[in-house]
Amino acid sequence: MKATMITGACINTGVAMVEKFASEGKNVVFTGRSIEKVKACEAQYRAKFPEVEIEGFALDSLDADGNVDEASVKALFATLDEKDIFIETLVLNAADQGLGMEIFKSSINDFMRVYKTNVVWNFCLVENAALRMKEQGGGSVVFINSNTAYRAIPDRTAYVSSKGGQLGLMRALALDLGKYNIRVNAVLPGMIRTDRMAQRPEYYASLPSMFTPLGDIAYGSDIADAAWYFATLARNTTGAELVVDGGNTIQLYPIMDR
Ligand SMILES: NC(=O)c1ccc[n+]([C@@H]2O[C@H](COP(=O)([O-])OP(=O)(O)OC[C@H]3O[C@@H](n4cnc5c(N)ncnc54)[C@H](OP(=O)(O)O)[C@@H]3O)[C@@H](O)[C@H]2O)c1
Repeated sequence: MKATMITGACINTGVAMVEKFASEGKNVVFTGRSIEKVKACEAQYRAKFPEVEIEGFALDSLDADGNVDEASVKALFATLDEKDIFIETLVLNAADQGLGMEIFKSSINDFMRVYKTNVVWNFCLVENAALRMKEQGGGSVVFINSNTAYRAIPDRTAYVSSKGGQLGLMRALALDLGKYNIRVNAVLPGMIRTDRMAQRPEYYASLPSMFTPLGDIAYGSDIADAAWYFATLARNTTGAELVVDGGNTIQLYPIMDR
């Protein structure tokens, strides 16, 4: 059975991603860190999309010692092999947001934790998926990156630089995997509607109209549509970036009179 794997898919953008791929008829394998949350989401997804196969797995980027948990990634792909599930598309949505990392208050360990998840763990996932894709004649990898790879935001040095590193990783993988008919691309969202917006309603009320030419920020479904494009339609595209940010990146000054 062929399936799309989506990481970090129990909340926010990951949910929209599962809904897009499942509603388009794709079988879905998804991950989250807590097995209880994963099983609850799995039940909801299965009830909503009975026509496709959906299975969730608990997967944390880090082991108990804080190292990248390569063994769990290998074990997950071995389990999928046993179940005869081939991951034809890998959507790397999960991220360590590295929130609140003011430069003089955060430790090198915190900084490294963000890199381990956003860069190294994702490399490990691609390596395991690509090995199978190569055997099957091809596949697609989609990084959910960020427009912060190009424009910095405050107190997020680790996150911003990890997303820049992730873009370099995307290009290097696209180069190395092209000969196996494996395409590797990245969606660069700007602000996305998430449950975190409820914590700062005033901030988010004014931000989109001032900082995006389109006057609006993304829904998770906008990001999922872009991932879908790369996964299924972009036959001759690899190493490419698609910015989905309402124009945020190209705007120099805030628009004060809107
Ligand atoms: N939100 C935005 O405005 C925005 C803007 C630009 C780019 N993006 C990018 O878009 C993607 C989705 O963003 P989002 O805001 O929807 O994400 P989110 O709400 O922060 O959810 C992140 C997901 O990643 C998982 N995750 C976090 N740390 C992990 C770890 N150490 N190991 C394994 N999984 C881990 C979480 O798992 P649990 O469910 O177990 O916590 C969660 O499912 C991310 O790549 C993000 O960088 C977001």
